[in-house]
Amino acid sequence: VKVCGIAGSLRRTSYNRSLLQAAVQLAPERMSIAIFDRLGDVPLYNADVEARGDPEAVVALKNAIREADALLIATPEYNYGVPGVLKNAIDWASRPPSGSVLAGKPAALLGASPGRTGTARAQLALRQSFVFTQTPVLLGPEVLVGEAQKKFADDGTLSDEPTRKFVRGLLERLLAWVEAMPKR
Ligand SMILES: Cc1cc2nc3c(=O)[nH]c(=O)nc-3n(C[C@H](O)[C@H](O)[C@H](O)COP(=O)(O)O)c2cc1C
Repeated sequence: VKVCGIAGSLRRTSYNRSLLQAAVQLAPERMSIAIFDRLGDVPLYNADVEARGDPEAVVALKNAIREADALLIATPEYNYGVPGVLKNAIDWASRPPSGSVLAGKPAALLGASPGRTGTARAQLALRQSFVFTQTPVLLGPEVLVGEAQKKFADDGTLSDEPTRKFVRGLLERLLAWVEAMPKR
């Protein structure tokens, strides 16, 4: 099962990118996760630009999603919502609404934040957008990594063992779910 991983932060030492990198290491045998790390190249959505043709980074984003069997999205939480950088990428990927690369693409969510609620609200907001894009999202486990500063080592390694188990559990559920789906 090929998974496209996206972290919704441009920060070099982003907890969410580190969380995704931990997922790459923790992936079960029959799963491989490739991180799409070019959100910073995706311009702000503009229908006039879109009408002239997708910019190169948008083409790359759509291809990465199209070629994957599933998505794994690590979202930060900004002001109780999804950071603009990530929402903007999802907006591009959702176009055109009929036959978008997001339609029917299974997805799993996770997120890390220094706050105690560990991106719970951002993840719910993301689920709401995925209703419109017809992107089925795994119901659980909800991986909400709160107090992230205590869970990662200085080099970005996910050092907290219970959190590693949660991430591994999410990936196992995602794998079982995708493998049980009829081939598209
Ligand atoms: C504009 C802004 C708004 C934020 N709002 C929230 C929030 O609503 N909830 C929260 O838990 N953390 C919030 N934070 C803190 C982020 O969780 C923190 O910066 C985190 O490290 C971002 O994820 P990253 O490490 O992957 O870049 C906010 C940070 C910024 C810059």
